[in-house]
Amino acid sequence: MRIPREFIDQLLARIDLVDFIRAAGVPLQKKSASNYFARCPFHQEKSPSFSVSQTKQFYHCFGCGVHGNVIDFVMQQDHLTFPEAIETLARLQGMSMPIGSEPSLRKHDHQPDLYDLMLAASDFYYEHMRRSPTAIAYLKQRGVTGAIAKQFVIGFAPSGWQGLIDGLGKTEKLLEAGLVIKKSEGKHYDRFRERIMFPIHDVRGRIVGFGGRVLGQEEPKYLNSPETPIFQKGQILYGLYHALKAHRQLERVLIVEGYMDVVALAQHGIAYAVATMGTAATKEHIERLSRYTSDMIFCFDGDQAGRTAATRALYVMLPLVTDTMQMRFLFLPEGEDPDSLIRKEGKNAFEARIQQSLSLSQFLFQSIATQNQCDLTTVAGRTRFATLALNALKPITAPLLQNMLLEELSKRARIEVPILRQQLRKTAHATPQPLTPTSAPTPTTMPALSPPLKLATTLLLQDPSLIEHYHDTAGGMLAALAAIIHEHPSITTGGLIEHFRDRPEHELLRTLAQWDPLIPDEGRTTAFKQTLQKWEQMTLEATIQSLLAKAAQSGLLDEEKATLAKLISQKNAVL
Ligand code: UTP
Ligand code: MN
Repeated sequence: MRIPREFIDQLLARIDLVDFIRAAGVPLQKKSASNYFARCPFHQEKSPSFSVSQTKQFYHCFGCGVHGNVIDFVMQQDHLTFPEAIETLARLQGMSMPIGSEPSLRKHDHQPDLYDLMLAASDFYYEHMRRSPTAIAYLKQRGVTGAIAKQFVIGFAPSGWQGLIDGLGKTEKLLEAGLVIKKSEGKHYDRFRERIMFPIHDVRGRIVGFGGRVLGQEEPKYLNSPETPIFQKGQILYGLYHALKAHRQLERVLIVEGYMDVVALAQHGIAYAVATMGTAATKEHIERLSRYTSDMIFCFDGDQAGRTAATRALYVMLPLVTDTMQMRFLFLPEGEDPDSLIRKEGKNAFEARIQQSLSLSQFLFQSIATQNQCDLTTVAGRTRFATLALNALKPITAPLLQNMLLEELSKRARIEVPILRQQLRKTAHATPQPLTPTSAPTPTTMPALSPPLKLATTLLLQDPSLIEHYHDTAGGMLAALAAIIHEHPSITTGGLIEHFRDRPEHELLRTLAQWDPLIPDEGRTTAFKQTLQKWEQMTLEATIQSLLAKAAQSGLLDEEKATLAKLISQKNAVL
């Protein structure tokens, strides 16, 4: 369900971007009447290039190019989706989300006590870790430092059956949180006993579940929280919150299997690993990750099981890959996992392995050839290889990637690209529906603007009060802006742009919002009026020219003749 436009307008009208960004900890300095500067919170820099305009309610960084209104700020800062950012802002403003907006968001509103309880449980486990020499010894023996244990809030569930229940009370709530198990009516016991506890955070830093490891050799080695109203395993990645906290912009992410892998990697300076917690990466995982980074490296064991898991992951990903994503496959030496390897060889050697990991195309073709034992030295082998490969390429929806893979296939199979493409089309009648990640930017064509229209649009966008000098001449985006301003007379630049978020014009407007047409403030009204006039003349001239052209070719209707005469006299009046 969409969030109603009026709600977003109201929300934006209540928040001042300068106050908000200041409250977020960015020390904005006043530069001029309504312009503020600071060092950019989204990239590392020495001198301030992050600028915030109070009148426009719009920010822009001249260094890294981020820009937007307060909603974009929250999305970028907290790595949230659009509805999540709206929800966060609404909560801060004490506004409740409108009925009918995304149910998943509203559901969370009803779970504050569950989050609180998880946090209390984590405190409980953390406190017990400090008190348990055996648990501390276990972490020591595995090489986990105190600092990293603190960072990941690693705790310990004491032995005994009722520790947590006695510690926190609230048995019914603990049951709902998956932390206790019901034996019979009125009889409950702790789910996690005598285990090292890894709290699992969502991207907003709330604890939604736990993983618990035995100290010895007992089975199961790891026990995880069951699914609860706040914990859906297929969607959560262990360590993502920490990785996002460590990097303003997550350049790449390493996807591993285990809790200890994430912790050990972070301890050794690779703070961009996340774990799928033992399961294969799902579509939801990949969609989630693609919000934060376009470079994903999937890490697998070097053995046969690892290869099989990698192939499975590959086929989950193929329909989801977009042309801006990079996916790589890292196979570790047999018998090693990231935890053991990073401790042995350190950050640099490990990152060198990442550099040498297989690209999607390398792994795809390699695995098809080896798994089907295609002998590429024979024509028959290459034909079979090409057929299998084409089948694999079918679900790919990213056009450039598919093209690139076709070219690569052409080289490997020694079959010309047009033939492969024809074959691909032929077999593609049962094309699976495209599964583009919701968060991936849909390719949009930016509408082009003529220079006067670009200037007029920019001026009106940057200063909506110019509307009093606007009169209906041009259609398109300028008219659309004007209509919104008429409806919301006190709207700001940031608010105006918000109305276009899902439209192709959005990016262009964001660019125009911070484009400097080099016109001093006091000259803007005149510039706006003149530009509109110029635009009118241009449209007038264009209409006259097209009528004249038609007159020469096929003659004009009486009506058209009259129009032409009128337009020409109009033009002469202007001159
Ligand atoms: P592994 O068996 O590879 O263990 O499971 P590990 O991560 O290397 O653990 P250590 O180093 O022995 O402590 C990988 C992941 O699979 C999940 C856990 O998330 C684990 O981190 N798993 C494993 C379970 O959920 N249950 C299990 O019984 C075992
Ligand atoms: Mn391990």
